[in-house]
Amino acid sequence: MTHNINIRPERIDDINDIEKITIEAFKNHPHSNQTEHEIVARLRDDNALSVSLVAEVNNVVVGHIAFSKVKINNEFIQWYGLAPVSVKAEYQNQGVGSQLILSGLNVIGELNAKGCVLLGEPEYYNRFGFKAFEGLVFKGVPPEYFLSLLLSGDMPNGNIEYHKAFS
Ligand SMILES: CC(C)(COP(=O)(O)OP(=O)(O)OC[C@H]1O[C@@H](n2cnc3c(N)ncnc32)[C@H](O)[C@@H]1OP(=O)(O)O)[C@@H](O)C(=O)NCCC(=O)NCCS
Repeated sequence: MTHNINIRPERIDDINDIEKITIEAFKNHPHSNQTEHEIVARLRDDNALSVSLVAEVNNVVVGHIAFSKVKINNEFIQWYGLAPVSVKAEYQNQGVGSQLILSGLNVIGELNAKGCVLLGEPEYYNRFGFKAFEGLVFKGVPPEYFLSLLLSGDMPNGNIEYHKAFS
């Protein structure tokens, strides 16, 4: 089934839908501790939700993606973290996640992002250009799942730190 998917920035009246979609998407996720919806709320409360987009099908919100700034070696250098991304179960595998990711990367590009990191399945994220890079380290996670996408400039080296909402 193909749908007309509309991607747009979140509005205040989307907040409940975003929370429900995030809880549901990660409910049975093997590598989740089911706190992703709290991370989104904490980022929003702290004005650290740099980009928050929803996907709509027939004017109903069916997916969400968040980006927040990350530090590399204790400094913000215009790199972002993509997390979390969630699609309602019955709308998965229909391109909604891909459209959220591609639109989100465009939006951070417009904010002059130099790159983006995420923790996720290489098999899925390789298609958007994300790859594991030895020089960018997120301590405590298997390096093959910590993926980066360079958007401009040179690839930095160092330790990644997400916003405290993630800890
Ligand atoms: C991951 C997620 C956002 C992808 O969204 P989606 O709308 O289903 O994805 P798309 O339709 O754009 O892409 C579907 C493709 O991704 C693949 N895919 C989806 N999740 C995958 C995963 N965890 N690992 C590997 N491939 C995956 C599908 O097999 C499909 O492959 P194909 O194009 O070769 O058939 C969505 O499945 C989801 O919300 N999952 C639960 C929450 C989650 O895992 N979030 C990401 C954590 S990093």
